[in-house]
Amino acid sequence: MTKKILILPGDGIGPEIVAQAEKVLAFLINERGFDLEIEHGLLGGSAVDATGSPFPDETLNQAKSAAAILLGAVGGPKWESIERSIRPERGLLGIRSSLELFANLRPAVLFPQLAEASTLKEEVVSDLDIMFVRELTGGIYFGEPRGIKTLDDGQRQGFNTLVYSESEIERIARTAFDVASKRQGRVCSVDKANVLEATELWREVVSSVAKDYPDVELQHMYVDNAAMQLVRAPKQFDVIVTTNMFGDILSDLASMLTGSIGMLPSASLASDGSGMYEPSHGSAPDIAGQNIANPLATILSLSMLLRYSLSEVQAADQIEQAVSQVLSDGFRTKDIHSDGMNCVGTNEMGDAVVKALSSIVN
Ligand code: IPM
Ligand code: MG
Repeated sequence: MTKKILILPGDGIGPEIVAQAEKVLAFLINERGFDLEIEHGLLGGSAVDATGSPFPDETLNQAKSAAAILLGAVGGPKWESIERSIRPERGLLGIRSSLELFANLRPAVLFPQLAEASTLKEEVVSDLDIMFVRELTGGIYFGEPRGIKTLDDGQRQGFNTLVYSESEIERIARTAFDVASKRQGRVCSVDKANVLEATELWREVVSSVAKDYPDVELQHMYVDNAAMQLVRAPKQFDVIVTTNMFGDILSDLASMLTGSIGMLPSASLASDGSGMYEPSHGSAPDIAGQNIANPLATILSLSMLLRYSLSEVQAADQIEQAVSQVLSDGFRTKDIHSDGMNCVGTNEMGDAVVKALSSIVN
């Protein structure tokens, strides 16, 4: 049966980077006979402009009937001052939550060709391979009550709520242990259990889930220490499991270990394995439309889509090989460029990956 892939280009650099991943998809469909149908939909600011909502019902329906979703990025200054409930980011949170995409996998892997693009010393980051497992549909991002209210003395007060239930912690912990058991078998759970009750419970529940995984080693770390350890000695980590907000922050931090946030893909998975795939970076409105954005995180997200939602492991491996090949051939977008390399635009990078892929396949 033909499987449907829903593509949500989004805002800013979203459309141009997604277009490069679509070239790779078109190659798989036309040259390799993959039985896939591509559909496009609206999310974020572009959806607000077209429909008044950052996550229209039409998109939800499309998403429900898709085998997997590939997303560019959402948001931009154009929509920063509109009413809070219809901001582009709410669309992203809305789709994550509606589809129960609770497990966000963000691999921070250093391609050896980019060791010198990292701001850290080569010996600190060489062979880096960390998998972040970020809880994505709970925590302070979704907790109620939330808002901005006016106090009796006339000043305003902003408030959010950090909440985690045992079942939410348990399922993300299981994901992390499952992932670790196929890797080096080490999980580091990051919390702030010394201050925040919600993460005191987090620590307890993760520890009890660990009993079901005797072959996986569990360590707990406070988030401030984890941030320090990530830049001090990042290779100590295998799998890091953490809350929604800590995962947001630490995964951006880790992206720089790999040279550029433009290299970091992600998968957001539901319990049935269906998922949405997106680069970990944002919509970068400052460089949108200039053909300079790095499309590799999006292309690598497509590789994760093939691996996790379609079980097309070989094609996923081949896309990663093709990315590695173009880096070895010296192709660099501006964010990862260094002396002596061939600085190319978004489009040219996409073409180079397709070309490398076709030579790997044939
Ligand atoms: C991310 C982004 C989003 C998040 C924003 C755009 C809402 O930063 O995917 O990391 O905070 O989750
Ligand atoms: Mg983020």
